[in-house]
Amino acid sequence: MILLSSACQQAVVLVQGRKYETDTTGTMPPILHVVSQAFLLLLPLGLSQEFDWTKDHGGSFYYGTFPPGFSWGVGSSAYQTEGAWDQDGKGLSIWDVFTRINGKVHLNETGDSSCESYYKFKALQDRYGGWQNNSLINFFNDYANLCFETFGDRVKHWITFNNPWSTAVEGYEVGEHAPGLRLKGVGAYRAAHNIIKAHAKAWHTYDKLWRNHQKGLVGISITSEWGEPVDITSQKDIEAAERYIQFYLGWFANPIFSGDYPQVMKDCIGRKSSQEGLSVSRLPAFTPQEKHFIKGTADFFGLGHFTTRYITHRNYHYSKGPSYYTDRDLAELVDPGWPDPGSEWLYSVPWGFRRILNYIKSRYGNPRIYVTENGVSEKQQCTELCDKWRMQYMNNYVNEILKAVKDGVKVKGYTSWSLLDKFEWDEGYSERFGLYYIDFESKNKRRYPKASVQYYRKMISSNGFPNQREIESWKRKAAEACSTTNALLAADPLVNHMEMVTEIVVPTVCILCILLSAILLMFVLRRQ
Ligand SMILES: *[C@@H]1O[C@H](CO)[C@@H](O)[C@H](O)[C@H]1NC(C)=O
Ligand SMILES: *[C@@H]1O[C@H](CO)[C@@H](O)[C@H](O)[C@H]1NC(C)=O
Repeated sequence: MILLSSACQQAVVLVQGRKYETDTTGTMPPILHVVSQAFLLLLPLGLSQEFDWTKDHGGSFYYGTFPPGFSWGVGSSAYQTEGAWDQDGKGLSIWDVFTRINGKVHLNETGDSSCESYYKFKALQDRYGGWQNNSLINFFNDYANLCFETFGDRVKHWITFNNPWSTAVEGYEVGEHAPGLRLKGVGAYRAAHNIIKAHAKAWHTYDKLWRNHQKGLVGISITSEWGEPVDITSQKDIEAAERYIQFYLGWFANPIFSGDYPQVMKDCIGRKSSQEGLSVSRLPAFTPQEKHFIKGTADFFGLGHFTTRYITHRNYHYSKGPSYYTDRDLAELVDPGWPDPGSEWLYSVPWGFRRILNYIKSRYGNPRIYVTENGVSEKQQCTELCDKWRMQYMNNYVNEILKAVKDGVKVKGYTSWSLLDKFEWDEGYSERFGLYYIDFESKNKRRYPKASVQYYRKMISSNGFPNQREIESWKRKAAEACSTTNALLAADPLVNHMEMVTEIVVPTVCILCILLSAILLMFVLRRQ
């Protein structure tokens, strides 16, 4: 239970496994009066015959036990133990202010750091192993429910997880992302298994408790690249490309939209597991009840998509050791002609977008789709604000969405990734996805629009691509706008210099002047 007010003395009372908190200095909530009276009535029932408890025997001790189901707890409170008074956006409480008034507290002490419980709370990773542990399903559900309750009057589109593939594979298989675990061939599957169940549970919670009056939608956002067979006449390559997509997209989409893991995943991982001498597959299985519970738990399909690979069949011998990557029995290739302006993995291959959208339409019952992430990066050394390649990428990728819409795919929205240059996970600040450029060294982190801002703005206001002449004029205007901004950016060191002058030099000179005048004045007064 979360204490919203840390200012009052709190005691936690556990009653039949449920917690109630009471202000021990004030009045009890009515429920506690009822409960405590119930205790008074209940306690005598368990008395032994020999002991007359109504008599005060002074010093004599009554041996006995409490009624079954009696709950025991121990109290604590935020202000008194946590410390961290100014951390993580926490505002001031009345006690923070009060303890700063000298004379109010013994030795003028404050709860600013106290026991520092705040820092000693284990996030859920250390205690449970994060998504390896199915306990997280209920924790996630509690969290989601709190969000529905708090923000659901305004938020009508909920995404439970964004890019669970990355959490599972990069977090639990290769360890390049947090929590950095390398549990090859098992970690990712176990994490995904719990994430899928947690998603389904949160969806059901919304459906049961909130949907009626909040009338919102709950979905999941699955990131997947497209896999194209290298040789479209080779059955092996066609099957390998299918495996690539199933291990990426189908892994999450299949249980949620169709009720179970893709058959190819079950087959491949099952076969390798038995070759490794395991009696059960490294891919966990859903029970029939779980399949039923998970199926249909998305009101829309969120899709993140960036790039495409050519896929060819390649056999990996099980003796290489288990891993998500070798389980797929394939190799990924790229066309050296594909533009590759930024992140190493991110080739611009617009046509893959239309294919993956059509794939989702045909495999998952033509769900409504929101594109939740799509964009391109550049490397840090490049401070070119006239980002032609980004305009090109956006232009062509969004155009493939338009084609998919004409194909009958129900794409309902597009979110470009991303607004600002920012911390790019394991790549730090070295890869820039932003429509706005940020000089991370600068004091105020001023934002500079790249050309693509202007271009995207036009695309939005026209709701697409009206005609060629119009689009050519967008490109011209974007180029003009960005050369102006480029000039501003070039002048930035000067601006910073000016700021230093106004913020440091001017005050220093003023203070020196005042001091000098004071000294002069003293001299003059002495003379007189
Ligand atoms: C606490 O503040 C009061 C009021 O300003 C002052 O008289 C007292 O000396 C302070 N005590 C300590 C231990 O600093
Ligand atoms: C989950 O976490 C609990 C508490 O730490 C632990 O007892 C249990 O063994 C864990 N289960 C798994 C599957 O890791």
